[in-house]
Amino acid sequence: MGIGDRLCYGGDYNPEQWPARVWAEDVALMRQARVTLVTVGVFAWSRLEPAPGRYTFDWLDDVLDLLHTGGIRVALATPTASPPPWFSLAHPGALPVTADGVRLHHGSRDTYCAATPAYRTAALRIAAALADRYAHHPAVALWHVHNEYGTTCHCEHTARAFRRWLTARHGDLAGLNDAWVTSFWGQHYSDWAQVSTPRATQYLANPGQLLDFRRFWSDTLLAAYTEQRDRLRAANPAIPVTTNYVLGDWVPVDHARWATEVDLVAVDHYPSAVDGAAEEQTALVADLARGWARHAAGRRPVTAPPPAGLPGTAGAWLLMESAPNQIHTAGRMHTKEPGRMLRHSLGHVARGSHGAMFFQWRAPAGGAERFHSALVPHAGPDSRVFREAVELGAALDRLGEVRGTVEASVALVVDAASGWALRHPGLPSTRLGHHEEVAAVHRALWRAGFGCDTVTAGDPLDGYRLLVLPALYLVDDATAGWLSGYVRGGGHLLATYLSGAADEHARVRLGGYPGALRDLLGVLAEEFHPLADDDHVRLDDGGTGRIWAETLRLSGADTVASYAGGVLDGRPAVTRHRAGAGAAWYVSTRPDGATYRGLLDTVARTAGVAPVCATAPEGVEAVRRRDEDASWLFLFNHTDREQRVPARGVELLSAKPVEAAVTLPPGGVAVLRERTG
Ligand code: GAL
Repeated sequence: MGIGDRLCYGGDYNPEQWPARVWAEDVALMRQARVTLVTVGVFAWSRLEPAPGRYTFDWLDDVLDLLHTGGIRVALATPTASPPPWFSLAHPGALPVTADGVRLHHGSRDTYCAATPAYRTAALRIAAALADRYAHHPAVALWHVHNEYGTTCHCEHTARAFRRWLTARHGDLAGLNDAWVTSFWGQHYSDWAQVSTPRATQYLANPGQLLDFRRFWSDTLLAAYTEQRDRLRAANPAIPVTTNYVLGDWVPVDHARWATEVDLVAVDHYPSAVDGAAEEQTALVADLARGWARHAAGRRPVTAPPPAGLPGTAGAWLLMESAPNQIHTAGRMHTKEPGRMLRHSLGHVARGSHGAMFFQWRAPAGGAERFHSALVPHAGPDSRVFREAVELGAALDRLGEVRGTVEASVALVVDAASGWALRHPGLPSTRLGHHEEVAAVHRALWRAGFGCDTVTAGDPLDGYRLLVLPALYLVDDATAGWLSGYVRGGGHLLATYLSGAADEHARVRLGGYPGALRDLLGVLAEEFHPLADDDHVRLDDGGTGRIWAETLRLSGADTVASYAGGVLDGRPAVTRHRAGAGAAWYVSTRPDGATYRGLLDTVARTAGVAPVCATAPEGVEAVRRRDEDASWLFLFNHTDREQRVPARGVELLSAKPVEAAVTLPPGGVAVLRERTG
């Protein structure tokens, strides 16, 4: 691994948008900012293959040579997220079709259907041409396949591929009819030709069909990625291959499943908030990325060591894109305050990212994203943002020694399929969401200062004192066994409402909620009470809950808190069940922030979970990385007051010794190589 070398720093570089005379200035500025890695060619298909099979690589040759001479390494992209207009005109059948049956036209990006053979052939051909020409170019450190796989399609090619996928999953139509419960509303299929993608329909769609389409489409996009990856690897197995994950609550693919197929988990993160919530989102996304990366570790043979300067494969991840300045929220752009680019970037590095990359290097004069922020803004290098970019490069340069695992004794289960299923129509409330529950409990853990890893069902749980299931709606029998084994073996489990309510086909488990987890949790819910937007329930410990409440019956568990007032007055709201050597807690509502915090403090005390840095004041985030020989403490002051944190060691950003305490200015960051003893 390039640890001891330099962290990755740079971003999307689009030299094809600029005359060649700008390139030399770009490289000079990159050197000034200590940029180490740039993504090149990500949307350049029409400039690389202006007509079918005719390649114009000369400009890319020059760019790669120039970067190499400047000591800057390249994540070379395959440009397949933006097919050229000639492709769409030659293959109109490869343009994507919406659920309403409307065929889209070129004129933006991502105008292809990933299930269409013509697109896959053309995409593989340009990837192969790049592989053959550049796989041994000394500047190339990483292949960056495509960009943010996340489109969808409902064309006939997709429908045929969906049927093939369903046949493999369900065996025969009887299996499909059973899994989708087609006996409801007379949807029984008697011929595969009747089965289609979930196109727009009259009223509520079938949940089994919706869920399987999501799984199928994630697999289809993954196949589009792996065939390019295999071709790139074949050209030079020493160069790692990745693709950048797009995030969002619409969750296009199953990232955990994809993690086993990339050499490096790479995520793009654009917080959807501008206030303190952006910091929470940064922490959550970084914990998710690390979870996916760890998920991949050890499951795939490492084919070759990565080139120096890039992370090794096991557990590595990289923030591939973020915004240097403005981000779009609620219909307008918001400027990031001075210092925030550094704070967000180091927030990712603290949680395991091997650097900080941005979209984009230089702001373009035109095009759809002409006002998106850049490290070199429209104003040019004599600007606040570029000066901060130079400071960030210097800061990252001083952190090359940081390594090791991120300290965490809580594990949070995240499940793409539960996220998809809780978006289905026909649920008891439109306010339900697995990812919202993940975010709510992560926020409470973050505020309490508890280190948290994200895991996927079936992952090893050694070393975790507390496992949290945030509305893990779909639980198959194997997952139920995994959870029971963890608790009976001495673990503490905290499950929130709707966890275990349905099986892997999104069929409700009968006998009372929470279905698969009833015995483990020692409770049975007969009825639920979804709450209106402005409604809440009160708890007898002074807490409040929103979104959801349940009529709970105890079947072995003890009551921790009861509902107070209303129809549920006096009934259990939060419970605890001793099972084997451990305990399983159940929360039948969504606790408000302070209520969650109080509950987590109680559960953590019982489970033996301690904050990462008990002496960090409220509003100061602490993250610790550790290996056998050393530890590093990252401290982030998210308050507008100066803060003091007792610590000893060396502060790496200032290279100053710390004898008793670190003083953090408002919004300040410190990274300590800790001295114990
Ligand atoms: C990302 C995408 C970039 C750019 C950026 C700005 O999702 O990968 O190409 O569009 O968003 O919003």
